[in-house]
Amino acid sequence: MNTIKVTRTSASKINSIDFENLGFGSVFSDHMLVCDYTNGSWGTPEIVPFQPISLMPSAKIFHYGQSIFEGMKAYKDADKKTWLFRPDENFKRLNISAKRLSIPELPEAVFMEGLKALLRVDEQWIPTQDGSSLYIRPIMFATGEGFHASPANAYKFIICTAPSGAYFAGKVKVLIEQNYSRSANGGVGFAKAGGNYAGQFYPTQLAIDKGYHQVIWTDDNTHEYIEEAGAMNIFVRINDTLITGPTSDRILDGITRKSILDIAKDEGIKVEVRKFTVTEIVEASKNGSLKEMFGAGTAAVISPIATFGFKDIDYHLPELENPIGLHLKKRITDIQTNKAEDLFGWRVSL
Ligand code: PLP
Ligand code: COI
Repeated sequence: MNTIKVTRTSASKINSIDFENLGFGSVFSDHMLVCDYTNGSWGTPEIVPFQPISLMPSAKIFHYGQSIFEGMKAYKDADKKTWLFRPDENFKRLNISAKRLSIPELPEAVFMEGLKALLRVDEQWIPTQDGSSLYIRPIMFATGEGFHASPANAYKFIICTAPSGAYFAGKVKVLIEQNYSRSANGGVGFAKAGGNYAGQFYPTQLAIDKGYHQVIWTDDNTHEYIEEAGAMNIFVRINDTLITGPTSDRILDGITRKSILDIAKDEGIKVEVRKFTVTEIVEASKNGSLKEMFGAGTAAVISPIATFGFKDIDYHLPELENPIGLHLKKRITDIQTNKAEDLFGWRVSL
């Protein structure tokens, strides 16, 4: 790949950012990486000041939703060294999503070298505060024009970043969805397609109106199998066994999920990857064997669930002294931030 051209901003915003009170994904770093696909190939990426992009209303992103994204983080360790966590997995998944949405796959060098070059330019934006990190958003979408319902002939790949704190403040209350679905057999649920999230907003708002924070997605056919927790994979602990559903074409193959499975197995925690049902967790809650439920994803890391609602009844999870969820959260964040040995070779330095 040719050298990446860098145009630096002449008006950095960094001094106006309150790094002690970061929300999630709401302030954006000074620069972004941009790469265009035209005439059948991806060009050389460039780093430019974070700025608006100009598109024709006839660009196919607006009509047919050819748009995908990734979510990853950069961390600073105690010596202010920068680390990424399993970026190869995000790259692979970006291209899995691209293929499903008929978007041309991105060369690995554009993603990896582009990302590292961007982080070097905006390294000061990576928070050093405990629990904060630089959230990284690679996006890829159709810029090519036309009303014909077919793939576009031009695309843009952008990486933008946002110094961020926690995604959720505290434990969450979730509603088990019995009507709407986020994905279907043969659909795009396994891809990080923007439209998957747009489709979740309305049912999630209905749940929020009833006093919940999030929806637990169930399978589209029977609404009996538990599949995901909002934009996170879901784990439950029954007695001392951690259970999560198998990935499928309806479920996103989460990097946090697979890392938790590896850490748990390494620690000798009993783990089952199998389908599990709403009936099973309602019964387990009634007989006291349901100990924990948590969501797992890059943004939220591990998010403990305090209560789940099902058919107008709220079921409360017990308050435990040493929940496995919090223990696993510490294990994974210690690896991410270079506080613990990286047994699995997941950490990548800048
Ligand atoms: N499930 C969905 C639908 C998601 O959007 C995400 C977020 O990325 C996840 C699960 C968790 O995946 P990861 O751990 O790779 O962030
Ligand atoms: C992530 O966890 O990185 C996600 O992409 C979820 C998101 C929709 C905030």
